[in-house]
Amino acid sequence: MSFGEQPLANALIAPERSSEQQLTYELAPTICSACGLFQLLEQPTATSIFTRKYPFFTSTSKYMSNHFSHLARDLIQNDPTLKDGGFVIEIGSNDGTLLQSFAKAGINHLGFEPSESVANVAKKNGINTDISFFNSETASLIRQKYGPADIILGANVIGHIAEINDIGSGVASLLKDDGIFLIEAVYLGDMLLNTAFDQLYDEHVFTFSGTAVANAFHKHGLELINVERQSVHGGSMRYTLAPLGSHTCTAAVKNLLDEEKNRGLNNSATYIEFRQRCEAIRRDLPLLLSEISGMGHKIVGYGATAKSTTVLNYCGLGTNDIAWIQDSTKAKQGMLSPQTLVPIVPPEYFREVSPEYAVLFAWNHRDEIEMLEREWRKKGGKWILYIPKVTVA
Ligand code: TYD
Repeated sequence: MSFGEQPLANALIAPERSSEQQLTYELAPTICSACGLFQLLEQPTATSIFTRKYPFFTSTSKYMSNHFSHLARDLIQNDPTLKDGGFVIEIGSNDGTLLQSFAKAGINHLGFEPSESVANVAKKNGINTDISFFNSETASLIRQKYGPADIILGANVIGHIAEINDIGSGVASLLKDDGIFLIEAVYLGDMLLNTAFDQLYDEHVFTFSGTAVANAFHKHGLELINVERQSVHGGSMRYTLAPLGSHTCTAAVKNLLDEEKNRGLNNSATYIEFRQRCEAIRRDLPLLLSEISGMGHKIVGYGATAKSTTVLNYCGLGTNDIAWIQDSTKAKQGMLSPQTLVPIVPPEYFREVSPEYAVLFAWNHRDEIEMLEREWRKKGGKWILYIPKVTVA
């Protein structure tokens, strides 16, 4: 299916450059009938996406920060080798939100992060960070220099890397014989169930299922040994992989693979239905917005997420429909949304203006945001939601 020509989701535009031509690509996902890997056909290059100015900071969500400190705590408690020092590597370590728990516990760690904007924050906070892409070449250099790793982590990043086979061989060569590779990612099954088409954008080259992860890494000698559902990012999965035969597989793996088969995750009919539900949202959201603004109400956006870029461009929305988008990330404020040029403003402005309606583009952080905006809600502020379907709440 195609979501049309799209700009890079996080390539925010400085106002003085708003008349310049922006890089676009066709957002066209498909699924491989052989291995079950859901993927984008056209993939902009990683260096055009993860630039010096990449504006997504993991630490902006308190909920995500807590989520990652719990993950680190569980790994430290369950892995005795870490207590004697150990070695933990994170691929795409962003601003060091996850690695900081290992650093605090005195565990040897190293993050790979190609975007200087976020990597420099991690470095400033004392997190060992290599400002580069992780691949089989850098993996071999690290092994030579520091030895093999006990744990390799990739949270919301492995599906961002088109060269998945190179990642597989890099991880396999860098991991200890009894080490583990842990991936966390938006789960294909939940994306389909929620019609969360806005999870699709240039960075999400792959949206994983258990079946696809098991197939993709098996050829590199890595076995899927456990899966755990996570509520973050609107429905994610934590996949644990390990060198073949080094660990016992939990029943959860077989259960998930069976469930995916029964749900038809590999059948074209499933995706045809998904496409029809996306098209219904594309029809209903602009209609609702014009109805509400026709009644004289102000509509803004909440969260200049990467997801919002897909929604705005797919649904043909712009500054006529959404006055501005509030976002708590300093690096996003004062910038314009890619292609649609909707201005991004700070939270203080949102609270001052107190608009009647806000399209919740950061719907995956709703609990956290409801707490933050309870005053606005008490005054009658309403959310416009589009996932799983268009409603007002
Ligand atoms: P997120 O949904 O995590 O990711 P993506 O960009 O991958 O779609 O992005 C959340 C955005 O929402 C981020 O720019 C910060 C912003 N945000 C707020 O403005 N207020 C908040 O309370 C929270 C939690 C996030």
